[in-house]
Amino acid sequence: MIDRVERSILVVPGSNWKMIAKAASASADAICIDLEDAVAPDQKATARTLAIRALSELDFGTKTRQVRINALDSEYAYRDVVDIVEACHQNLDVIVVPKVNSGADLQFVGTLLTQIEMAVKSARHIGLEALIETAQGRFNLAGIVTASPRLEGLIYGSGDYAASLGMPMESIGGMDAHDAQYPGHRWHDVMQAILVAARAHDLRAIDGPFADFRDEAGLGRACAIARAMGFDGKWCIHPAQPEIVTAVFSPTDTEIAWAREVMDAYMVAQAAGAGAVNVRGKMIDAANLRMMQKVLARAGGG
Ligand code: COA
Ligand code: MG
Repeated sequence: MIDRVERSILVVPGSNWKMIAKAASASADAICIDLEDAVAPDQKATARTLAIRALSELDFGTKTRQVRINALDSEYAYRDVVDIVEACHQNLDVIVVPKVNSGADLQFVGTLLTQIEMAVKSARHIGLEALIETAQGRFNLAGIVTASPRLEGLIYGSGDYAASLGMPMESIGGMDAHDAQYPGHRWHDVMQAILVAARAHDLRAIDGPFADFRDEAGLGRACAIARAMGFDGKWCIHPAQPEIVTAVFSPTDTEIAWAREVMDAYMVAQAAGAGAVNVRGKMIDAANLRMMQKVLARAGGG
């Protein structure tokens, strides 16, 4: 799997050129041009054309370039893949597949990609990310994560998941009065399942969007929950969001300093024949070493 940093992914409607151009220079780690739910049915063809133009003409800097195709049960999805990959195979990194219900969905897109890459003689292999946002997707996670060598990550889509399960949700990704009625986190099961499935197969785990884009505190809380669980990043739907999201999903200076201190102390202890050591009154052992390696990896420190 290609090791991309995806703390913040800015999603932009494919039918809106002005927003795509703005997103190209935004400070997110990735941009995702959406052809699916942010695009009205009569704009699907226009969105495809604009996505091709954007990927061909705009400078996205170091950002990962993604396109979300339409769902595989729609009449649009095959042409999304064929038109966009034929035209932009050199300038596209990841295809996001929405409403993935089983491994067969990813195998279908993977096979189509292989055919197109052969036809255009491209040595690049476009990656896949799967949106888990249906009851079937949650149920079939084990088959989804093993379906395609192109799979790089799983994304939790809370709006469609709520719709699929019949759970009430006032604003996508937010907490509301219904949460107060439920003793626990209503999305814990699916988020934890996504995280475990992703980690078992060395994939990224990405949290979905927080729709109330003026509520910075709410966004911060949603990020903090996902980060506390172990997620790598979160979708953003407005340019005000990536800065907040990137910050939460980056280790703090304090976390990095503690990681270095723990690792140094552990190495000294190990050289002296000890497996457990006292660092500032806390027991540190090999498990801490593994946790701290993850912190430093997220900080880009290896
Ligand atoms: N990417 C890039 N630019 C965006 C943007 C996005 N996702 N969302 C808003 N902007 C731009 C606006 O065009 C506006 O630009 P301007 O100041 O140059 O005119 C600026 O950011 C401020 O936008 P604002 O007026 O606060 O919001 P809005 O009413 O224009 O847009 C939404 C609000 C929700 C319609 C819009 O944010 C959006 O479409 N988000 C993405 C939706 C999406 O992709 N959904 C699918 C995935 S869940
Ligand atoms: Mg969705």
